[in-house]
Amino acid sequence: MQINGSVALVTGANRGIGLAVAQALVAAGAAKVYAGARRPETVVDDRLVPVRLDVTSAEDIAAAAALAEDVDIVVNNAGTGGIEAQLFTGSLDVAREVMETNVFGPWEIARAFAPVLAANGGGALVNVLSSTSWWAMAGAPAYSASKAAAWSLTNALRLGLAKQNTLVVGVHSGFVDTDFSAAVPADKITAIDLADQIVRALAEDRTEVLADEFTAATRRALAGGIEAVQGITPYKVS
Ligand SMILES: NC(=O)c1ccc[n+]([C@@H]2O[C@H](COP(=O)([O-])OP(=O)(O)OC[C@H]3O[C@@H](n4cnc5c(N)ncnc54)[C@H](OP(=O)(O)O)[C@@H]3O)[C@@H](O)[C@H]2O)c1
Repeated sequence: MQINGSVALVTGANRGIGLAVAQALVAAGAAKVYAGARRPETVVDDRLVPVRLDVTSAEDIAAAAALAEDVDIVVNNAGTGGIEAQLFTGSLDVAREVMETNVFGPWEIARAFAPVLAANGGGALVNVLSSTSWWAMAGAPAYSASKAAAWSLTNALRLGLAKQNTLVVGVHSGFVDTDFSAAVPADKITAIDLADQIVRALAEDRTEVLADEFTAATRRALAGGIEAVQGITPYKVS
């Protein structure tokens, strides 16, 4: 699709990958980029249009879809880790919050914006997923389960939105250098690199981004069974 002159909305666009994607879209010629944020005052780049958008709030989502009726690119980026919910300890309420943010939020946004995208010619829906769509993290079980669920949801949305000509892009990445992964000893790509890859995929009408070699290797290993998948690690081992 053509990025030049497009209008986009990015969730969680006040920092990290969301901010980088919003800025990359501006750099690629987007006419307007709405920056969704729980606290709009944290959007400080004045090239972006701040919008109050907690992705777990049905009211915020409905209001954003009514306001941003000119969008033709929606990027579901906002996400949370919830590592307090460990496999056998920690409240499962935290795990439920992760599912609300990483799965039901993007789903509700897709529902709210599907008619907007249709009215604007189809456009694109981008879901920022993870390599953990395929690779389980024992230390972050809610997170990896949420990304596996969000991958399946993304694939269903691609089928469901095909008839209105909406491109649905699933973005899979290993660790990215943001606040989110600051404590993780692993090789990381930059948020700017990932954002550029996302914009390129949109421009080339591609349905999937495999952002780094770890992610691509994980994807290939699926064919070798679960032992092959879990045999690959993104962590730096000393
Ligand atoms: N960093 C990585 O290693 C990595 C790798 C693969 C995939 N990802 C995915 O990339 C996406 C962005 O991650 P990041 O690395 O940029 O993380 P980050 O730096 O921690 O930023 C997370 C963003 O999501 C927002 N957010 C969280 N809950 C929200 C909610 N309920 N409603 C609206 N916004 C909410 C945060 O807003 P506040 O400022 O209000 O908290 C923030 O803008 C996530 O989906 C993550 O799973 C990250």
